[in-house]
Formats: sequence, C-alpha cells, structure tokens
Amino acid sequence: MSAPLNLMAPDVRANPYPLYAELRRRPVCQVEPGGMWAVSRHDDVVAVLKDTRRFSSAGLGRSFLPPWLERNPVAASLVMKDPPEHTRLRGLVSRAFSGAALQRLEAQVRAIAEELAEAVVRQQEVDFVAAFSLRLPVRVLSLLFGLEPELWPRMRVWADDLLSIPASHPTPERREEIRQSLEEMERCFQALLASRRAAPGEDLVSELLGAEGLTDDERMSFLFSLLPAGFETTAHLLSNTVLVLTRHPREAERVIAEPRLIPRLIEEVLRYEPPAQSSLRLVTEDTEVGGVRVPRGALVAVLLGSAMRDEQRYPEADRFDLDREGQGHLPFGHGIHFCLGAQLARMEARLGLEALLARIRGVSLTRQEVSWSQSYIARGPLRLPVRFEPRADDFHTQPPRG
Ligand code: HEM
Repeated sequence: MSAPLNLMAPDVRANPYPLYAELRRRPVCQVEPGGMWAVSRHDDVVAVLKDTRRFSSAGLGRSFLPPWLERNPVAASLVMKDPPEHTRLRGLVSRAFSGAALQRLEAQVRAIAEELAEAVVRQQEVDFVAAFSLRLPVRVLSLLFGLEPELWPRMRVWADDLLSIPASHPTPERREEIRQSLEEMERCFQALLASRRAAPGEDLVSELLGAEGLTDDERMSFLFSLLPAGFETTAHLLSNTVLVLTRHPREAERVIAEPRLIPRLIEEVLRYEPPAQSSLRLVTEDTEVGGVRVPRGALVAVLLGSAMRDEQRYPEADRFDLDREGQGHLPFGHGIHFCLGAQLARMEARLGLEALLARIRGVSLTRQEVSWSQSYIARGPLRLPVRFEPRADDFHTQPPRG
C-alpha cells in the first residue's frame, strides 16, 4: 500500500502544487496530518464553503485553547462561529472595515509604505521579509488599533505566539511565555478600550465600542483575532509577490514600466501563490463531497491553493499570467466568512508595491533556495534575500528620511 499523501512533507511545503494536482485527479480522500479529508477541486471547495450547515467553522477554536491554556480570546472569534451567531457578530464588526474606514487610512498607509520602501531600496541587498513584508502589516495593524510605537515590536511577538498555539507541543517555559504574552495583549487591549471609551476617535476600537450589542468579551476576541488573520497573511502576500517577480523578469519589467498593472499583479499572485492555502471545516453529519462519503466529525482541509490551480476553472492554471481575466475571490475564502480584511490587504499590497516599484529598475534573488513557512494553512517564504537595482534618478536625488 502506498504511503498516505502528506500536506506537511518537506517537498510539499517547498512546492505543494504537484500534490494538489495529484489530489484533483483522485476523488476526495484522506491525507496526513491527522487523516483530514482533502477537498481540492474548485467546485468542491466552493460547495463546502457555501454549506455552513454541514461544514461548520465552530469547534475550530479548540486548537487555540489546548488544555494547558486557561484562556484565549481568539478561540471565540468570528471566523470560528457559525450562523446565527456569526451573522450577528459580522453585522456588528464589519463597519470598521467599510470603504470609508479604509479611505481614512490610505494616506497614512502610503506614508508608511514610502518610508519602508525608501529604506530597503537604499540598502539594495536585504532580507525582504524582515525589512519590509513583516513591517508594513505590523505598522498598519498598529495604526488600525491606535497603538503607541513602543508596542509595535510586541505586536509581532503576540502574533507569532498566537499562531504557534495550535501546532506546537510547547515546553513548560514556552507555555509560560505564551500565557504571559496573551495576558499582556489583553491588558493592552483593555487599556485601549478604556481610553477610547473615555475619548472616542475615528479608529477601529472606537468603531467597535460604538457597535451596540457587542459585549466587551466579543470586542476583545475580535481584536485578538486580527493578529493571526491580518498580519502573517499580508506579509506573505508582499513576499510572494516579490518572489514571483524575481522568477518572472519579463512581467517584472512590465509592471515597473506600467504601475497601473499593480492591482492585476496582486490578483494573479493571490491566485498563483496564495498566502492562505487552506481553510478547515468540521463535518456535522454524514455527507458527500465530490461523490465521496465523509463521516460526521471529520475534519476537512479546504484547499484554496489547489482550487485556484484547477484546470477546469483556470486554463493553463500553472502559468503565471498577468493578462488572465476572472481570478475570482477564492484567495480570501468564499461565502459568509469571506475575509473581512480583503480590501485592507489589497490596499496594503498595492501601496507597498507602488512605493517599492517606483524606486527600482529590477529585483533579483541573491540565493536561489527559498525556505518556506511550515504550515499547510499559510504559505510564504521565511526569508527572501534580494538585491534591488535602484532607479538612478530617485536613488541619488532623494534624501534619506528620518
Ligand atoms: C493577503 C492577506 C489576507 C488573506 C490571504 C486572507 C485570507 C482569509 C481567508 C481565506 C479567510 C476565510 C477563512 C475561512 O473561511 O475559514 C479570511 C477571513 C478573515 N480575515 Fe482575512 N486574509 C488576509 C488579510 C486580512 C486582514 C488584513 C484582516 C484584518 C486586519 C483580515 C481579517 C479577517 C477576518 C476578521 C476574517 C473572518 C471573517 C469571518 O469569519 O466572517 N484578513 N481571511
């Protein structure tokens, strides 16, 4: 008997697309880790995400609340709820992500992007992940929350600690570190809620306080959930885009010459090398997916990264094509849990890339091998050593910013 297909095998993490192609040729089947049921074809993925009655998001929070942790507000967050609770919560929090709220942020996000782009292009050779991709979303989330600059570095630690909870078997010391990190976050967000309650502003926290019907526990859960949801994903989108440009120099030349193609570039990267590779669902009754019976209680890996390489839906799906039409919306999920931060993420990526590409003539990798994140959910390089070729005019004429 052949070994079960494993989403966590090192060669699969380096390049999951051949395994996805293999999965799409089979009916829905079980894979490692944990004997999850892999749903890989575009139409099956959409069908599962639409059917919230048989494929539940509830219960997924359990992995964020292992027995050694007494409390974790993330475990009760929006993305882990089903209707009717999800419907109520989403109605209350979504105003904070409206077009008007984003417009208010745009000029400030652009200023952050310009500052970071200036610094990385000046250095010429950098690890793009550390110097840019991780920094931009931390600064934007801090802006959204209204966090003081001294807390910006903590934001990154908090996000890492939260994300490490489901996958890890931490040592007692590490458990204590994570507990303290969560307590620190909670104290900090309590203080933010108190200060905005006393003096409301035009920010996310004030918006959440204005939403009548939300409890403070629900506000806390929502704020907590934005770190795993909005930080690593956006960082991976920026890194994956730069990586794709280094591997497609003709397309890189085109976008540098025609910055109006940047939104197209982002959409095609979201399809071709998506930061969110999968979602998880729990099966609530014996059911059928893609003609295969799946038992109640099974865990389903909904492979977004595979659905967007499905030839039935995207001709020449393995080709990166800036002129492709109709990429669809799967990189941000589908149905009631469609990403609340999708417009914010697209805006961050657009402003980040505009600032960067305006300053360069080209970009290349200084080391060819890439080490990828070890997760079947989020995909992006851990480091990305690149060399930027600055535009002669900008490089010599612009003074460094303080
Ligand atoms: C490129 C960046 C991003 C990607 C690829 C992404 C992807 C996703 C996906 C696939 C889902 C659906 C999960 C599911 O169905 O189980 C989701 C949900 C969500 N995302 Fe994002 N996301 C990104 C950025 C952000 C940002 C910047 C924020 C906010 C700061 C955010 C907040 C959320 C929230 C709150 C949900 C839950 C929505 C709900 O359950 O109704 N995301 N995201």
